[in-house]
Amino acid sequence: MTNFATIDQVDVKNKRVLLRADLNVPMKDGKVEDATRIERLAPTIAELADRGGRIVVLSHFGRPKGKPDPKESLKPLVPALQRALGNRAVHFAGDCIGPEAERPVEALKPGEILLLENTRFHKGEEANDPEFAKALAALGDLYVNDAFSAAHRAHASTEGVAHLLPAYAGRLMQAELEALGRALARPEHPVAAIVGGAKVSTKLDLLQHLLGKVDFLIIGGAMANTLLLAEGIGVGNSLAEHDMVDVAGELLRNTNTQGRVIVLPIDAVVALELKTGVATRTVAVDHVPPHQMILDIGPKTVAAIETRLRECRTLVWNGPMGAFEIEPFDRGTVAVARTVAQLTRAGKLVSIAGGGDTVAALAAAGVIGDMTYVSTAGGAFLEWLEGRTLPGVKALERP
Ligand code: 3PG
Ligand code: MG
Repeated sequence: MTNFATIDQVDVKNKRVLLRADLNVPMKDGKVEDATRIERLAPTIAELADRGGRIVVLSHFGRPKGKPDPKESLKPLVPALQRALGNRAVHFAGDCIGPEAERPVEALKPGEILLLENTRFHKGEEANDPEFAKALAALGDLYVNDAFSAAHRAHASTEGVAHLLPAYAGRLMQAELEALGRALARPEHPVAAIVGGAKVSTKLDLLQHLLGKVDFLIIGGAMANTLLLAEGIGVGNSLAEHDMVDVAGELLRNTNTQGRVIVLPIDAVVALELKTGVATRTVAVDHVPPHQMILDIGPKTVAAIETRLRECRTLVWNGPMGAFEIEPFDRGTVAVARTVAQLTRAGKLVSIAGGGDTVAALAAAGVIGDMTYVSTAGGAFLEWLEGRTLPGVKALERP
C-alpha cells in the first residue's frame, strides 16, 4: 500500500480545506439519479466541517472540454449534497478560480461548506496546467483528496494541486485504498477474480495483471466466448472477437504454465437474439447451435463457480456474467452474486467489487450491502486492476 497521510494527521480548525470530491454522478432532468458517490463522500465533508474546517469542495462533472457549459454545471447537485449531509447548508460559487471563487471562500466561517463550479470549465484542469493548479491552491490551506474514482486522471484538481498544499487522503479515498489493498496487494489466499464484460481486447491488461495475482480467474460475459474460440470451441452466432483469438490462446497457455486456474463457462443460456421474451435454451458450450448466441452462463457453470468460491478467502469482481440488463439473462450474474453475498455474510469470503456495470448488476441482485466493499470507481477501479499507478493516489504519497 502506498504511504499517505489521512485527515487524522491534521488539525483543520479554522483552516480552508480544499476538498477534491467526485460529484460526477448520473443526472436526469436536473435530478441526481444515483446518489451513491455523494452519500459515500458526505461523511468526510461532515467530519471536516464538525472539526471546524472551512470546507471548499472541488469536482469535475461530465466532459465540458475546457469551457463553461450550463448543462454541465454542478449547481443542480447542491440539493442532493445538502440531503446527504443531513440538510446542512451548502453554498455555491459560480467559478472554481478567481474572484468569483475567492470572495465566497473568504466569507466562509468554520464549519461552513462551499461547492465550487465544475473544474472542467477551464482548460487548465485536464491539461494539469501549473498556473491553474496554483489558482486552485490559492483557495486552500490544505488539500484533501476524496475522489478515488477520479484518481486515474492526472488533472490539476486531482494531481497538480496535491504538490502545492499539504495533502491528505479523505475517508472515502482511505476506505477505497484499504479495500483494494486487501483484494490484491496483501490478500488472504486463495484469491479468485471474476471478470466479465464484452471484450477481451479492452480487458487484456487487466486479465494479464490478475493472472499474476490470483489463484482462480473466473471469466464470463461475451469475453468468455473469445476464450472458448481459442480453445477450439465454436460459439455459434455469439458476440466474440475473432481477431483476438490468438491473444486469448496465449493467455490460456500462460495460465497453465503459471499454475493458475482459469474457469470458463461449461454451459450457456442461448437464444436467437438479445431480446426480452425470446425463447432460450441451455446447452453445453460445445453444443451452441450455429444461429444461436450465448447470452448468459448456465446452471452448471454457476455451480462450478460456486465450488471455486467456496475454496477461496478473497474475491475481486469486475463485470457481469451475461447480458444482465435483459431478463432472463441476468440469472447467472444474480446467482453468483447471491452466493458471494452469502459467503461474505458468513465471514468466509472478503469480497470486493467495482466498475459501473458490476455495481448495477450487484444492485439488481440486491446484494450491495452484503459485499465487503463496493468501490465507487469505474475507470479508476479498472486501471487499478490493471496494476497501473493512479496519479491522484501517487500524488498523495509521502516520501
Ligand atoms: C468517473 O465517473 O469515472 C470519473 O468521475 C472520471 O470521469 P472521466 O472518465 O470523465 O474522467
Ligand atoms: Mg467515466
